Amino acid sequence: MQNTMWAARQRQHLAQIAWSYKWLKAPFIIGAPMRALAGPELAIEISAAGGLGFIGPPVKIADAGADLAKASQLARTSASPALSAHLATSGTLPVGIGFQTWTTALDEAVGSLQQHKPCAVWLFAPKRGQEELDEWTVALRKAEPEIQVWIQVGTLREAVAAAASSSPPDVLVVQGAEAGGHGRAEDGVGLQALFPEVFDATSECSIPLIAAGGIADGRGLAAALSLGAAGGAMGTRLLAANETRISTGYQNEVVRASDSATSTVRTHLYNHLRGTYGWPQQFAPRTVINRSWIDHQEGVSFDKLKILHDDAAKSGDAGWGPNGRLATYVGAAVGLVHDVKPAASIIAETRDEARAIFTFNSNFLGGGE
Ligand SMILES: Cc1cc2nc3c(=O)[nH]c(=O)nc-3n(C[C@H](O)[C@H](O)[C@H](O)COP(=O)(O)O)c2cc1C
Repeated sequence: MQNTMWAARQRQHLAQIAWSYKWLKAPFIIGAPMRALAGPELAIEISAAGGLGFIGPPVKIADAGADLAKASQLARTSASPALSAHLATSGTLPVGIGFQTWTTALDEAVGSLQQHKPCAVWLFAPKRGQEELDEWTVALRKAEPEIQVWIQVGTLREAVAAAASSSPPDVLVVQGAEAGGHGRAEDGVGLQALFPEVFDATSECSIPLIAAGGIADGRGLAAALSLGAAGGAMGTRLLAANETRISTGYQNEVVRASDSATSTVRTHLYNHLRGTYGWPQQFAPRTVINRSWIDHQEGVSFDKLKILHDDAAKSGDAGWGPNGRLATYVGAAVGLVHDVKPAASIIAETRDEARAIFTFNSNFLGGGE
């Protein structure tokens, strides 16, 4: 690695992000688009706190328009001068929105953006790889030229394909195996190894790289920036934000669970129990282990598990927990989440911790004898 080239590239990436999203405060924190859970309230709070909030992919396409309309209303009434300044000078909202391309009709997604335009669209989980992402990118740019396209990848191969594409994204999110929600089913690699390799392999292009996976506090953010990231995306930590659209039972589990090596597993069992089929086989979600998984391991039939699951779904918050049966998707850093608090506090504390680490590093590790 040539240090000076590495630093120059990261500086350029930071400048590109700062230019595109002028309200962001460094170090840059992105609120990941968690399906259904990351709503407009969460996304706007993150952006108002100097991050960039993404609304999660909608369950029904009509939800996307409704969420963006709500985000527009919240942005207009936000006390944040930086968000007001963005609205006054730009035709886009200071939040993004995510889509899972494998399960969403492209024309419907584009249509949902017409009235209230997010500043960015985050694409993930194609069935047909880069070809599908290219189709989305071209259509989005044609319909909404101001919108920035973000693509999340989980392998070096995917990253290189996105960077080499004739329609490359504006921002590439590199997702390590630590990530919550869906990630690589079998070929995931930890962020510490994956990110620098992607950084080096994409040196010919000028796409800023954002790191995702296992960033739950300022230490994780500082580590990601040290790997060359222009910012860090957080999902799991934000599951425990006041503004997240999440059941209390689920949120309690996020706070309770620790030691993810033994308390979580990547499996499609819970997708199937919920009636979700068809995910491209290269992806699988990480969930907190509960009775559904334990019984499955012990040989209980799927039909029986489904009946028990559906009963649990009717029991409200009791459906989650060690004796619960419902999907509790989280990342490997779930053991670092100890409390529920406002998103603005999570963003500010994470940023402050990362800054303190860099000050410490500069003072004590920065080349002195
Ligand atoms: C509950 C949950 C749902 C998620 N849903 C999506 C999604 O719909 N689309 C997407 O691109 N990423 C999704 N993600 C993954 C995030 O984009 C991101 O990669 C991940 O949260 C980063 O790792 P972390 O959870 O350790 O912070 C989800 C993550 C979680 C925890």
